[in-house]
Amino acid sequence: MDTVYQRCIFPSCGGTAAVDDTAFVCPRCGGLLDVVYDWNRLPTPKSLKHFESFWDQRGDPLSFSGVWRFRELLPFAPADKIVTIGEGQTLLQRADEVGRYVGLEPGRLFLQYEGLNPSGSFKDNGMTAAFTHAHMIGARRAACASTGNTSASLALFCAATGLMRAVIFIGSGKIAYGKLAQALDHGALTLQILGDFDDAMLRVQQVARKLGIYLVNSINPFRLEGQKAIMFRVLEALAWQVPDWIVVPGGNLGNVSAFGKAFRELTELGLIKKPPRLAVINAAGANTFYQLHERLGLRWNAGRPDVSIIDKYYQHLEADKVRASTVASAVEINRPVNLLKALRALEECGGAVRDVSDQEIVDAKAQVGAGGLGCEPASAASVAGTHKLRQEGIIASTDRVVCILTGHQLKDPQLTVAYHSADPKTFHDVLGSHGIGTAAFANRAVQVPNDLDAIIRAIDV
Ligand code: F0G
Repeated sequence: MDTVYQRCIFPSCGGTAAVDDTAFVCPRCGGLLDVVYDWNRLPTPKSLKHFESFWDQRGDPLSFSGVWRFRELLPFAPADKIVTIGEGQTLLQRADEVGRYVGLEPGRLFLQYEGLNPSGSFKDNGMTAAFTHAHMIGARRAACASTGNTSASLALFCAATGLMRAVIFIGSGKIAYGKLAQALDHGALTLQILGDFDDAMLRVQQVARKLGIYLVNSINPFRLEGQKAIMFRVLEALAWQVPDWIVVPGGNLGNVSAFGKAFRELTELGLIKKPPRLAVINAAGANTFYQLHERLGLRWNAGRPDVSIIDKYYQHLEADKVRASTVASAVEINRPVNLLKALRALEECGGAVRDVSDQEIVDAKAQVGAGGLGCEPASAASVAGTHKLRQEGIIASTDRVVCILTGHQLKDPQLTVAYHSADPKTFHDVLGSHGIGTAAFANRAVQVPNDLDAIIRAIDV
């Protein structure tokens, strides 16, 4: 057996694929695949402190990268094939003001700000890994379906390296302008499908298979290898202490799946004693995971989930023509491709799934902004969800909690301006149509005549 290969997530199936296989489905049962390492035959660190030795090697691009400085924990690529654009220089910020809003004691809430990545979202963590794999196997074109951030990241990696051509599928009218701007500016072939993300996701898989284009959506297990590094950096910033909770927005459920795998492997390698609990927060208008996990009791069940629950739920979506709808367009997804991996992660780490309304999301987003970091709406679901879990008493006020801010504020400026706007039409067009009625934390621009005294009065109120 090779030291690195791909393996079906179902223990009872046991299907495998070689490291260079790009079908990204189990050849036996069609299920999801993991990247698997034979750790006994690979050099592994004795403690997490080992990674501090890379801090003074910032001249080496692989040690500078916030993903590849942990390369011993995702050792699938030879060093000369690794493609990095300096991703992962992100920040874990203590956030007492936002902590007060959600009901945590000072020093207990931290925000992991993935908006600082080169393309402005966490996706670059995964893209550097998928892109590296694509480069390893000699791909010349790479494709994804996207609500905007995956496509922005892919477009940027293609433009920055010149190694591949980006082909991106987006739903019509479903993408925030900051993200569309990135795809266009970086030269991606941009296909707007008459449909939503779930439609685009199905199509891109068909097209990738037919045309032999490399697929970089998170169904690709190599993407998730890169996203494990978000957790490695959280631990690094906490001096290698494990927090009580990681709270993350849920869309296609790639992040939570990657985080679960990271903690499973760290535990196996003896690098941590116990994983944190994981909370996944859906937008209420795209809450498949919440419905299945919390309402319908779907569990991983040690690899034997009752998939008839999923089938029945999807039949209901189809029959009742339910489409995902939320102001957090990044997570406007009803059929998350990593559903089963996410269930496994929750079972292994313990945790919860909640959904939050669009009103809760935009208010939490304003609090994050006022607290000194800017995030896009989907990211703020993590803060809104923490608020909810505090109110329910599931998270304690003394728990140490890390919320993942997945994307930058400037991805979706239209929404932010509408929230703070004094103009009812602007507010209604962007937010009111999503059932948002108030902007409790609005910071309204002040209209002043072009007159010195009036301006001074407006400042010195
Ligand atoms: N937050 C942001 C800002 C995102 O862009 C996404 C997903 C998520 C959260 C959800 O993460 O899929 O790992 O559960 N965006 C994908 C895209 C779907 O196409 O950009 P997940």
